[in-house]
Amino acid sequence: MPDHVVITDKGAVRIIRMNRPEKKNALTLPMYVAMAQALHEADAADAIRCVMFAGAPQAFCAGNDIVDFLNAGDSGLDPRTLEFLHALALSQKPLVAAVGGVAVGIGATMLLHCDHVVAGAGAVFSTPFLKLALIPEAASSLLAPMRMGYARAFSMLIMGRPLSAEEAREAGIVNNVVDPAEVDDVALQAAQEIAALPAQAVAVARALMRGPLDDVVRQIDREAMHFKKLLQSDEARAAFAAFLARKR
Ligand code: COA
Repeated sequence: MPDHVVITDKGAVRIIRMNRPEKKNALTLPMYVAMAQALHEADAADAIRCVMFAGAPQAFCAGNDIVDFLNAGDSGLDPRTLEFLHALALSQKPLVAAVGGVAVGIGATMLLHCDHVVAGAGAVFSTPFLKLALIPEAASSLLAPMRMGYARAFSMLIMGRPLSAEEAREAGIVNNVVDPAEVDDVALQAAQEIAALPAQAVAVARALMRGPLDDVVRQIDREAMHFKKLLQSDEARAAFAAFLARKR
């Protein structure tokens, strides 16, 4: 089986590439585990000064694997998924994302933790949580209203209306929209630019800008408590089954 997450260090930039293009980079438990580990290692490595998330040209990430949602046991959300969300929120290193294609669910909400996001012109940002009888996660219920204002956050997170790359830029969650073929290069340049800055000063300035993260972590846990229960609901399970049985 190929590696579904590929970690490459390019100088001082660690690239975490989701690599399951045949499933649009839907995230499985081992992928969460590999990404959490890569973030923890980056935190501990002085040589790594920036982390970049990347995906496949057509898909940054289609969200949590719906088969895993359907198979989730009575305990619901696996703690290892939560560990990734905590590692993301608490990352000591600046985070850059290269979004070439669709970013759905966690693929979109993880971007709210990133410091710099580059999107391809055709990228689409979508959080269809409520359509799946679920709720927003990854502290997006806190961060999205803060970042894009309540009206836009409600439309996206609750109504499930997608944002185009340009709309995401206007909403303040994407820095720049580029030719899809150039997404990775432009994002890597930004990551290298950040990595070239004095590391200690970047860490301090970033911590000051983010403020205390206790509320963010608490929100992740609070959302997860509800999410776990909702995963087991008849409505959610019917929505997962309908996605997997859909005709295309
Ligand atoms: N979980 C499991 N499998 C997924 C998936 C997911 N989140 N997203 C995509 N896939 C699978 C599809 O089932 C399909 O598998 P198959 O070829 O074995 O049938 C494959 O990936 C390709 O997906 P497809 O839907 O054909 O691609 P598309 O380009 O037409 O659409 C998406 C891409 C991302 C818009 C669409 O796949 C989608 O809506 N996925 C679900 C997203 C979602 O709801 N995520 C959870 C949010 S909480």
